[in-house]
Amino acid sequence: MTPPQPDVLIIGGGVAGLTLALEIADSRPVTLVRPAQDDQGASRWAQGGIAAVLSPDDDLDAHINDTLVAGDGLCDPQAVRFTVENGPAAIQWLIDTGVAFTPDPDPKARYPYHLTREGGHGARRIIHADDATGRAVVDTLLHKVAQHPHITQRSDLAVIGLLRDTAGHCRGAYCLDDNAQPHTLVADDTVLATGGASGLYLHTTTPAPASGEGMFMAAELGATLMNLEFQQFHPTCLYDPEGPAFLISEAVRGEGGRLLNEHGHRFMLDIDPRGELAPRDIVARTIDAEIQHGTQGHVWLDIRHLGETAIRHHFPTILAHCLSRRIDITQQPIPVVPAAHYSCGGIATDLQGASNVPRLYAIGEVACTGLHGANRMASNSLLECLVFARSCAQELRAPKSRPSAALAPFTLPQDSNSNGNEEIPQIRQLMRQTMSQYVAIVRNDQGLDTAAAQLKALQQRLGEIAPNTENKAAHQQLRQAIQLARLTVTCARERRESRGLHYNLDWPDLAERASPSFITLDELD
Ligand code: SIN
Repeated sequence: MTPPQPDVLIIGGGVAGLTLALEIADSRPVTLVRPAQDDQGASRWAQGGIAAVLSPDDDLDAHINDTLVAGDGLCDPQAVRFTVENGPAAIQWLIDTGVAFTPDPDPKARYPYHLTREGGHGARRIIHADDATGRAVVDTLLHKVAQHPHITQRSDLAVIGLLRDTAGHCRGAYCLDDNAQPHTLVADDTVLATGGASGLYLHTTTPAPASGEGMFMAAELGATLMNLEFQQFHPTCLYDPEGPAFLISEAVRGEGGRLLNEHGHRFMLDIDPRGELAPRDIVARTIDAEIQHGTQGHVWLDIRHLGETAIRHHFPTILAHCLSRRIDITQQPIPVVPAAHYSCGGIATDLQGASNVPRLYAIGEVACTGLHGANRMASNSLLECLVFARSCAQELRAPKSRPSAALAPFTLPQDSNSNGNEEIPQIRQLMRQTMSQYVAIVRNDQGLDTAAAQLKALQQRLGEIAPNTENKAAHQQLRQAIQLARLTVTCARERRESRGLHYNLDWPDLAERASPSFITLDELD
């Protein structure tokens, strides 16, 4: 009798998870757990595009060098080279899969698709689908996934922990359905593609980003986490206190958008010769300082000089959203603020997405491959999702022996009749306030110590609430988020320098040697 095919479990429905599912499903059956609501996660909201060396006028070494410079000395050069070199083939795969990238209207263009520019890039190398690239890519991949006979989608489950066997290998996930009924999804290989940890903060560029739950679940199995202190704040989120989170793509600055303070002064040129296209850490920090010194709570991003036709052509989504919020960007500057956007740290992996836990892989924002170092360069994130999903697929296609050890039991706190339904969201809000106040763009030792103490107290308070049927998943996810926040603060406190996205007033200089930070669960008391 033919043995049953080993099963691959993929958790996460963004660009990384969907790409891996499609790349592996012809060889091994896949179960894909992804959120039911389309607004979850970050991929779908990515506007700008995907960076890759596509124009004959660009070259791989230039993209590598720009990435290393933006990463402020902390990138792993091998991971950078690997990603950049595999970029063009990954883009071609997307084109072949049917993604409708924006063509270059110029008949003399040396590459058929329009390439835009973003911060840190010395050349035009961002391929895009208007200003809604993530949506175009996700929709195309989802359509293919839905048609694939070997991909089983589960959108009815919340993953609340990973399963291990008695040999210490990852063996799938423990989930709850809407009625808090448990389901175990046992798998030979498990891949986390669950996104980053921007949801630890109050203000984010997407409505419902992850809060580091995937990173923490991996750490519970013994995975090493890396560079958690490098949380990226995108410089330009729409300042709209009454409205939903909305990103104003870096491509707006790439096409000529100017940042102005409340006196109408173009302040970025005072700080960096690259102006608005300096790497994100520098632009976000400068905007933050302008806001602290000003009175209006935001700066302006002005694109009027491009003219209405060009604005309509390049930025239809941004134009429509801003109009819906009564801001006509063809006639007035856009009020913008920095907001939490991307986690450069995550589960430490190799070039195939393997973590240090056997049979556990991580791809996309949940992973830390070494590509981004201390500051991710614009549009390198979707590139990383694609390149590492494809290399992970290659690894998972290679024949391996099947696991034989017995599953270890998975334990959750006992249910009770207690009513934490109101307190759980309150604790989540307090966690976000703490992170936004003390662990954001500018930090200091005292603030980090305060954050550490407050987060520990919040964890204790949550521990006193016994979950009930209604809030069991929310309770578990908040427990994971708070502990991930605590690990982040530990990494931030231990870094005795300012580098990239981590800026500490008490340690304003660069250390002589750039070293990544590694942390495991053992460091939490
Ligand atoms: C943007 O369009 O500015 C976001 C793209 C990215 O984060 O790389």
